[in-house]
Amino acid sequence: MQQVDAVIDRRLDSGVPLVGEVARYIISAGGKRLRPALLLLVSGALGNKSEQRFNLAAVVEFIHTATLLHDDVVDASTLRRGRATANETFGNPASVLVGDFLHSRAFQMMLDANDMRVMQILADATNVLAEGEVLQLMNTHDPSLDEAGYLRVIESKTAKLFEASTRLAAVLAKSPPQVESACATYGQAIGTAFQVIDDVLDYHGSAEETGKNLGDDLREGKTTLPLIIAMQRGTPEQRGLIRLAIETGNAEELPHIVEIVRSTGALDATREAAAAQAERAISAISVLPPNPYTNALLQLAAQLLERRA
Ligand code: IPE
Ligand code: IPE
Ligand code: MG
Ligand code: MG
Repeated sequence: MQQVDAVIDRRLDSGVPLVGEVARYIISAGGKRLRPALLLLVSGALGNKSEQRFNLAAVVEFIHTATLLHDDVVDASTLRRGRATANETFGNPASVLVGDFLHSRAFQMMLDANDMRVMQILADATNVLAEGEVLQLMNTHDPSLDEAGYLRVIESKTAKLFEASTRLAAVLAKSPPQVESACATYGQAIGTAFQVIDDVLDYHGSAEETGKNLGDDLREGKTTLPLIIAMQRGTPEQRGLIRLAIETGNAEELPHIVEIVRSTGALDATREAAAAQAERAISAISVLPPNPYTNALLQLAAQLLERRA
C-alpha cells in the first residue's frame, strides 16, 4: 500500500496548481483505500508480484476519488473523510473539473499496462459507474423504488469498481477464466455488501467514525434499503411519513425516521442482506489457494459487516 501511495503521489503532478491542491486535499484526508487493497490482496492470493499491480491499484483509487469529488457535488455533501468536502472548500466548479482530471489521468496510467483486457475492464467499469449515478439521480424522490431497483443502482455505482479491482488482479496474474470469474464475483459481492452497509451507516452511524454527515441520503431523497424495508414493515402512518420525507427530501423528521427504521427491524434486515452478499463473496473464492492473502480476503468479507467507518 505504501508503493501504491507513492504512485498516487507521483501521478498527481500537474502544471496547474489548483489541480494538485484540490486532488491532494481529498487524497491526503485518507480514506480506506479499500479498492487498491483488494487488488493487491487478490494479486497476493494468486502469487502475482508484478510492478503493474501498484499502478493499477492507483488507477482504481483515482477513479474512486474522481467519483467522490463528483458525488459530493451531486449530493451537496459537506463532510467527507472527516473534513469539509472539496466542493465546500473549493466550490463545485473546481471539484467537477479536478474530478475530470483524475478520471483522465487514470486513463493515461492504465495505458502503462499495455493490455487491451485491462483497458476494457476499466472502460466498462467507469461507464457503468457513471450510469449508476445517473440511474440513482432518476430515482431520487421516488418512494416506490423497490429492492430490485435499489440493487441495480448500487451494483452499478459501487460494486462494479470493486469487481473491476479484483478482476484486474486476476487478469494481471494471467488466471484461467474460472478463477478470473470467481475473483470478479468476490469483488462484486463485497462491493454490494459494502454499499448496503454504507446505507445503514447513513442512518445508524456516527459522523465521528464515518467522517460523513448522517442523514445525507434522506436529504437527497434516496430510497435506500433501510427505508424500503421500513416502509414494507411499518404502519400506514409510518409508511406515509417516510414517503413524504423521500418526496420532499426534508430531513426534519430524521430522528423520527431513524426510530422507525430501528423499531421495524429494518436496520437488522438490511444488515442481513449485506451478510448474504458477504457469504456469496466467501463462497466465490473457495477456488483460491489457501494462503495468508486468501485468508485476509475471507476475513475482510466477515469484518465488512461490522464496519463503522
Ligand atoms: C465511499 O466509499 C463511497 C461508497 C461507495 C459508499 P469508501 O467508503 O470506500 O470511501 P473512502 O475512500 O474510504 O473515503
Ligand atoms: C456512493 O454512494 C457513491 C459512489 C459510488 C461514488 P453514496 O452517495 O452513498 O456515497 P457517500 O455516502 O457519499 O460516500
Ligand atoms: Mg454521496
Ligand atoms: Mg452513503
